[in-house]
Amino acid sequence: MEVVMKPDEQSMSLMAAATIADVIRRKPRAVLGFATGSTPLGTYGELIRMHREEGLDFSQIVSFNLDEYVGLAPSHPQSYRRFMEDNFFNHINLRPENTNLPDGMADDIEAACRAYEAKIASFGGIDIQLLGIGANGHIAFNEPSSSLGSRTRVKTLSDKTRKDNSRFFANAAEVPRYAVTMGIGTIMEAREVVLIAGGASKADAVAAAVEGPITAMCPATALQLHPHALVIVDREAATGLRYSYPSERLKVTKD
Ligand code: GLP
Repeated sequence: MEVVMKPDEQSMSLMAAATIADVIRRKPRAVLGFATGSTPLGTYGELIRMHREEGLDFSQIVSFNLDEYVGLAPSHPQSYRRFMEDNFFNHINLRPENTNLPDGMADDIEAACRAYEAKIASFGGIDIQLLGIGANGHIAFNEPSSSLGSRTRVKTLSDKTRKDNSRFFANAAEVPRYAVTMGIGTIMEAREVVLIAGGASKADAVAAAVEGPITAMCPATALQLHPHALVIVDREAATGLRYSYPSERLKVTKD
């Protein structure tokens, strides 16, 4: 894992956006993996700015999102599809037909999960996957105890996660009990992963994910086995780390 400590959430977001933009410039037909939650909003904001001001081009990009609530229609204000449209997709030139989220309304959800995996594979896999982290160490909706080899499937949301996510809903009872999520095995197949974490509420999860033992009880620890994982944290999210990490990525020059 390459861990980078940034002074604040803004610089964390700029680095994540620059990392994704690099992939897009190198490979205009890249397959990008996106995440929801409050944390990626700054990253999406910067990518939108790069699109508007620097011509960053998403016209050939294909995207796959990590997860979606079961039972929320794509048009539901709290669905992750709506979140992505409102906060990102509607502000860049990514073609709507090239955006993919798991289907939380499918009659046969298991078949839909298999189809999602097959679709990712049909595009050659994900080049770079953006990730947040839950306060309990979850990635996507892979809650503690999720198999580290899991694939896209339905997961029951933990009480902690439903409580954390209730801020987006009128009340806690409205938060769906289930979600369709890429598995940890699915995420691990992305060629590159970028996990971002900001704020004191993530400090324990970050410490466990980066410096703790690999365990299904903290799903983000699986990323320790990923050959190309970048973890960008702000100062507050870094407070539980025992080691200190650089504020920039390692650059090896020959002179
Ligand atoms: C949700 C999402 C995760 C996200 C997490 C943290 O549970 N499924 O992908 O990482 O929330 O969200 P936030 O960034 O709002 O703290």
